[in-house]
Amino acid sequence: MSTPVIAIVYHSGYGHTKVVAEAVLSGIQDVAGVEGKLVSVDEVDAHWEALDGTEAIIFGAPIYMGNLSAGFATFAEKSSKRWMEMKWKDKLAAGFVNSGSQNGDKLQGLHAMFNLSQQHGMVWVGLGLHPGNNNSNGSVEDLNRLGSFGGAFAQSNVDQGPDATPPASDKRTAAHLGRRVAETTLRWVRGKA
Ligand SMILES: Cc1cc2nc3c(=O)[nH]c(=O)nc-3n(C[C@H](O)[C@H](O)[C@H](O)COP(=O)(O)O)c2cc1C
Repeated sequence: MSTPVIAIVYHSGYGHTKVVAEAVLSGIQDVAGVEGKLVSVDEVDAHWEALDGTEAIIFGAPIYMGNLSAGFATFAEKSSKRWMEMKWKDKLAAGFVNSGSQNGDKLQGLHAMFNLSQQHGMVWVGLGLHPGNNNSNGSVEDLNRLGSFGGAFAQSNVDQGPDATPPASDKRTAAHLGRRVAETTLRWVRGKA
């Protein structure tokens, strides 16, 4: 059997969400027996058939004006050609979002990704972590410091470049999502054999 591929399809206007996507990839790469692949929405037209051949697709986007960036939304609309034939049905799906504010309407964007996955008949994988930084012993260094359940959240200070923000804890949380999707993919593929 060929190695199952997990694609991370992401948009990043200014590089911060790309850093998060790379952290998700590093988590996938921690798991033996799967292959991770980064696909920028700017180059997605060269990758549609490769995406059709994956076992899982992880969506990633920044929040612009309270929702997924237009760059990601364009990819979502273009994916309607796959929807026509339900080409992505029964693939695993997951998501991560990044914004300038601690909240910043990230959940709105994550839910839009969930809706996209369900239109395609995909199977959503959540984060699977308790919230961090929510008690008197907590800190911004905690895994899942922004307290998400359905996917990975990241927050990037708006006055810093992607070399400095988002913080390491958000990158660790993103890597956790990558590992979780990779481990779930192995179970999913075994179940289909
Ligand atoms: C057009 C635009 C709209 C934005 N809207 C929001 C927003 O609604 N909420 C928020 O928290 N941050 C918002 N931001 C900040 C971005 O989410 C933040 O800078 C993010 O790190 C950008 O990621 P990127 O570098 O991958 O594009 C906005 C940024 C831009 C450029």
